[in-house]
Amino acid sequence: MSRQWYNEMCVYQVWPRSFKDGDGDGIGDLKGILEKLDYIKSLGVDAIWFSPLYASPQKDYGYDIADYYNINPEYGTNEDFKAVLDGAHARGMRVIMDLVINHTSDQHEWFKRSAAGDPQYKDYYIWRPGKGKDGKKFPNNWMATFPGDGWKWNEERGEYYLHLFAVEQPDLNHDNPAVREEVKRIMRYWLDMGVDGFREDVITYISKKEGLPNGFPLPAARGMEHYSPGPNLKKYLQEYRDVVKEYEGRLQLGEAPMMTPKNALKYIDGEDRVLDMMFGFRHMEADCFMISWIRLPFSLRKLKKIYNNWQTKLYGRGINANYIENHDQPRNISRYGSEKYRFESGKALCTMYTFLSGAQFVYQGQEIGMTNLDYEKWDDFVDVSTFSTKKLLEKLKIFSQKKIMKMAKYAARDNARTPVQWNATANAGFTTGTPWYTVNPNYVDVNVEAQENDPNSQLNFYRKAIALRKEYADAAIYGQFNLHLKGHRQLFVYDKIGENGTKLTVIINLSEKTLSSKKAKKYIYPHSKEILSNYEGEIGDKLRPYEARVYKNALLGE
Ligand code: NOJ
Repeated sequence: MSRQWYNEMCVYQVWPRSFKDGDGDGIGDLKGILEKLDYIKSLGVDAIWFSPLYASPQKDYGYDIADYYNINPEYGTNEDFKAVLDGAHARGMRVIMDLVINHTSDQHEWFKRSAAGDPQYKDYYIWRPGKGKDGKKFPNNWMATFPGDGWKWNEERGEYYLHLFAVEQPDLNHDNPAVREEVKRIMRYWLDMGVDGFREDVITYISKKEGLPNGFPLPAARGMEHYSPGPNLKKYLQEYRDVVKEYEGRLQLGEAPMMTPKNALKYIDGEDRVLDMMFGFRHMEADCFMISWIRLPFSLRKLKKIYNNWQTKLYGRGINANYIENHDQPRNISRYGSEKYRFESGKALCTMYTFLSGAQFVYQGQEIGMTNLDYEKWDDFVDVSTFSTKKLLEKLKIFSQKKIMKMAKYAARDNARTPVQWNATANAGFTTGTPWYTVNPNYVDVNVEAQENDPNSQLNFYRKAIALRKEYADAAIYGQFNLHLKGHRQLFVYDKIGENGTKLTVIINLSEKTLSSKKAKKYIYPHSKEILSNYEGEIGDKLRPYEARVYKNALLGE
């Protein structure tokens, strides 16, 4: 595979509402982001991906767009965005915008006109008459991904519209060429302004099977087999790809739930690929069944198997998009790691995924070890999907209220959305006003400022790991993945072997147990050099809880 900047990049994800408030209204904004560009740059990252900044009623915090051409006034203006864009470019960082085109907000002008039957917009969305004698039965049995019905009746139009997410997020009809032209216009607008590419939200859902047939009778996400991916996905993606290709060096990342490496390669392999990479989900299922709400004990063996699958199948062909956190996932230390060994496990998880082949993504606050919030009551949650999942679970009548609350505490996306903890002053330095959302009380111990000056902090560990990944790009980014001790329940040991002969050996005890280091040590070559570790001193006979070490071995000479 040829060497490309987007394969080597490390991307920092900003979820704007909770990143930094610059004007004291309690809501993160572009002014706050501008203040922190030097900080982002200091991590050693090459690009920033902004979760949606567009005008939106915020039912799904920006993933419900009401105006694709304007910045959400709570975040600032288009000029403020331009200042951030220029500021990032001046610091040598690229900027990736979120592009949400599977659906819009129901407050978008297109939807309002479509509902009113305006001939120009009539087919912009997926409308169907009701079924049954009274015409009020759903057009099919599909369910939304945010659990609940997939259809909503619209009185004005006298028809149902499809929404695969919240009721306020009607799905666009990409089968309508006029809709695709709108998408292209939007893309060109931001590309002309200078953005470097898009992260395309649930992009694999944009094409729905003709006739919208009923789905398998599943209790959730029913109908998915008819749109994930749909029949015309590649065709539509090709059109959007052609737009991006009108510009130099821009990039497209696609969010792809349920994706397998084999299917991913249909979209991301070779010169004629329609996306540069895809965000898979499987590796986020090592402690659950499909979604984090259906919790299972964390299984390192499962995780290793998934990584092995993606790393080996994409090798030399496609680029992995490596992440362990984002705005949709609870904090990783609270899932795959341990709050008791917060920084040890945070550094171990950082080590685990930094040296995997592919591009690297770091979510705001991940670098300092932010953890889940200790929720006490339903009022503490704000995410639309938390409430729809709660409703579905209540309807099933299998779980007690206490159990549902416990599930939410562990699994809710809200966990990722607490304000970034900048320092130990009031509101973690996020705002001088009243924060729009609860600040995790652990900010007193877990914050950027405290970690800046501590050479052993998780923040500085991330900086080091990010730099090492680049320094040893041959092995770390392009190398062949070689998994050892596949069946071991606590040890994650792998090599990455570069074409230039460099071999990296990654050894991690991903558990709270103290283990013998004998099995792992076998894989450290003689004369190798340790380049990263989260415990001081050399490796001993024991591997302590979450002990992580990386060695560099030169196979050829040195
Ligand atoms: C995926 C996004 O990451 C998530 O935050 C959003 O709720 C859904 N897509 C719907 O846009």
